Amino acid sequence: MAKDKLKGLILSGGKGERLRPFTYLGAKQLVPIANKPVLFYAIEDLLACGITDIGIVVGDTRHQVEAAVGDGSRFSAPRASITYIQQDAPLGIAHAVKVAADFLAGQPFVLYLGDNFVLGGIAPFVQRFQSDSSNCQLLLDRVDNPQSFGVAELLDGRVARVVEKPTQPSSDLAVIGVYMFDRHVFEVVEQLRPSPRGELEITDTIQYLIDQGLAVHASVLDRFWIDTGKMDDILEANAVVLDALPASNQGSIDSASRVTGKVILQRGALVANSILRGPLIIGEETRIADSEIGPYTSIYHHCQVRGSSIAGSVVMEQTTIEDVSYRIEGSLIGRYVDLRGDSAGRPEGESRRLALTLGDHSQIKAL
Ligand code: DAU
Repeated sequence: MAKDKLKGLILSGGKGERLRPFTYLGAKQLVPIANKPVLFYAIEDLLACGITDIGIVVGDTRHQVEAAVGDGSRFSAPRASITYIQQDAPLGIAHAVKVAADFLAGQPFVLYLGDNFVLGGIAPFVQRFQSDSSNCQLLLDRVDNPQSFGVAELLDGRVARVVEKPTQPSSDLAVIGVYMFDRHVFEVVEQLRPSPRGELEITDTIQYLIDQGLAVHASVLDRFWIDTGKMDDILEANAVVLDALPASNQGSIDSASRVTGKVILQRGALVANSILRGPLIIGEETRIADSEIGPYTSIYHHCQVRGSSIAGSVVMEQTTIEDVSYRIEGSLIGRYVDLRGDSAGRPEGESRRLALTLGDHSQIKAL
């Protein structure tokens, strides 16, 4: 079948154990990077390649993903058509492809893991897959810790072997979470047996294609990529995206405030008597008063921050932070958190610091 009309399949199920406590309740794919859920970047990357027919595999957090993404009409030019596909248990990435087989209907597709982030998108790689004769294309990145990923071995530009999270990696080439397949993958996932950890592995699927003599090509990435499955990775992705975004102001800053660096204020954000050190982003209707924010900080929509100092952190929506005298740094703070210190007025500066990982609805109060 011609590869001109590709479908997209984004995985947004799974357990998210490495991101607890956030993911006890929330979908890890909805954690915001520069005030946008990581999953939205995947949808936009597919749309930028002209892929509008997108299936999203969902599990226990289905209702949250559906509430955030909707029917796709919030993504325009071109508009996305979204189909939700239920995976009853997280039995593996290849299992997710299997449950999506009806949606994919034998067509070639891009498989995008919903917690992966590629700065600048995937368009050149999709174009390469569409124009060459490969049956599968992988994207690879050189990493320091290949044992945490699927690892590829190359021979004459082709992929000779892929192994899932090997203890003794034979290369530093990690298989990143964006894959392209043609129809041959469907036969393989039907026959696949679970791995020792009980999952239908995408790496076993790819190895099967190689063993059958099919053409599995790979492109080594020329851009920043990250699997946002762990807290440090979210903070890193947040910093990289903030660096790449242009400044903009749809809110207001009073004359008592000082601003340095690149600052983004989203619609209705209000800043009073504060110091903003970009790059940073302040979300819709969020209020900042008597505080120091940044650099490399994202504060999401409908938050209140007063009398506090926050740097190198991500704060999720509807959270209140007041009168914390320690400087909050390298922190990931969930939704609807209520964090209250005991120092009224301005924070005391940088001498005492606090690194927090707070799940949704956490409450902390100094007595
Ligand atoms: O990030 C790249 C890595 O992703 C690859 O190098 C590995 O080869 C690949 O197995 C995968 O490893 P992870 O351990 O990071 O996979 P994880 O279980 O975190 O799942 C990736 C995404 O797919 C995540 O958004 C959850 C979703 N998922 C996962 C499974 C197992 C599902 O929707 N259903 C599932 O059954």
